[in-house]
Amino acid sequence: MKNYVALALAAPALVAAQQSLWGQCGGIGWTGATNCVAGAACSTLNPYYAQCLSAAGQATTTRSTTPATTPATTPATTTAATTLRTTTTPSGPVGTGLDSLIKAKGKKYVGFCADAGTLSNSQNAAILKTEAGQLTPENSMKWESLSPNSQGSYNWGNADQLVAFAEANGKILRGHTFIWHQQIPQWLKNINNKATLTTAIQTHIAAVMGRYKGKIYAWDVANEVFEDSGARRSSVFSNVFGDWTFLDVAFNAARAADPAAKLCLNDYNLDYSSAKLTNFVDLVKTLKARGVPVDCVGSQSHLVVGNGAIPSYKSTLDTLATTNTEVQITELDIRTSASPSSSQISQQVTDYKTVVSGCMKTAACSGITVWGVSDKDSWVPSTFSGQGYALIWDNNFNKKSAYQGFVDGINS
Ligand code: XIL
Repeated sequence: MKNYVALALAAPALVAAQQSLWGQCGGIGWTGATNCVAGAACSTLNPYYAQCLSAAGQATTTRSTTPATTPATTPATTTAATTLRTTTTPSGPVGTGLDSLIKAKGKKYVGFCADAGTLSNSQNAAILKTEAGQLTPENSMKWESLSPNSQGSYNWGNADQLVAFAEANGKILRGHTFIWHQQIPQWLKNINNKATLTTAIQTHIAAVMGRYKGKIYAWDVANEVFEDSGARRSSVFSNVFGDWTFLDVAFNAARAADPAAKLCLNDYNLDYSSAKLTNFVDLVKTLKARGVPVDCVGSQSHLVVGNGAIPSYKSTLDTLATTNTEVQITELDIRTSASPSSSQISQQVTDYKTVVSGCMKTAACSGITVWGVSDKDSWVPSTFSGQGYALIWDNNFNKKSAYQGFVDGINS
């Protein structure tokens, strides 16, 4: 038996909605239903997550820290522990999906990227309902998707659809992404003076984060700001500003727009020792030292089966943790040849286990997002010629052996 914390509400919640068995019913930032269907009780597994478990055998009935009708206002840095009291829940895994497994081990989520297109596939949606605790928009919240034609004009449809699915199914969200050199509109790329660009960054972040305020756990405020060499990457932002202060503008705007959202700097190739990793960590420390609100670092983790750096993946998470921020694995996939050999398939199982285990053994690592469900929908085949097989469900939505590698990593 293990002790967990929970808050007893002084009065019954005045909410009609009832969460189903295994559904989320509370936790920091949770704004959905806090009552469970008959026969189930809301049990707090950790300050971030309470779940409707079968009432039989439950020692204590507990409720959410946040009433269903109140948007999350808790600042990201506030600990809930001071307002919680201790109760007990059964030990061992709860539920059946990866997200339930990882939560039972004290982590915050297993998530997947998704969007209207993949959600419209019922097999994909069913897997997300069972396996995911968090969803990240694969494309729909990118600047080019939201505001392709002119400043101030927005297409919200696809992003709204993902947010609605997440809310209806009790999933938290990661927002992705504002400052990036790719998938940004031409009108933005055409801006060539600092004052205009500053206003464009501030108004866009205020519009998007304002619309989804209280609904997004963490935002990738900036993405891929380093070249692979470790140099500052060329983009409209770095070129117009001539230094890193475009990040000050973006992170400050983000904090103002939704003070409860965790604000992340996200990048790829942070998986092994390199000038890029060193400079990334130094930049986060420098930004924090001058008061720029960076709460989390995202390591995309687009990996290759059998890569020699994977066995030391945990040590790079440790390096990222020296930023004193939350570390999130944000876009995990481990690709190999599109028609893999049996040894590549078994190596992939090992590699998934190693990466997931690295997160489990790193206190700062809060959660893992996998960049897609089925190999059928992965970005890999169209991006890396001849490669594929990167995810943990196959083209027909069958679990691959890599799924077991993921589970073994959680249990390691
Ligand atoms: C990819 C998407 O998966 C594709 O659908 C899209 O065509 C291109 O972008 N790093 C990121 C993600 O931060 O946004 C990228 O997603 C993959 C690499």
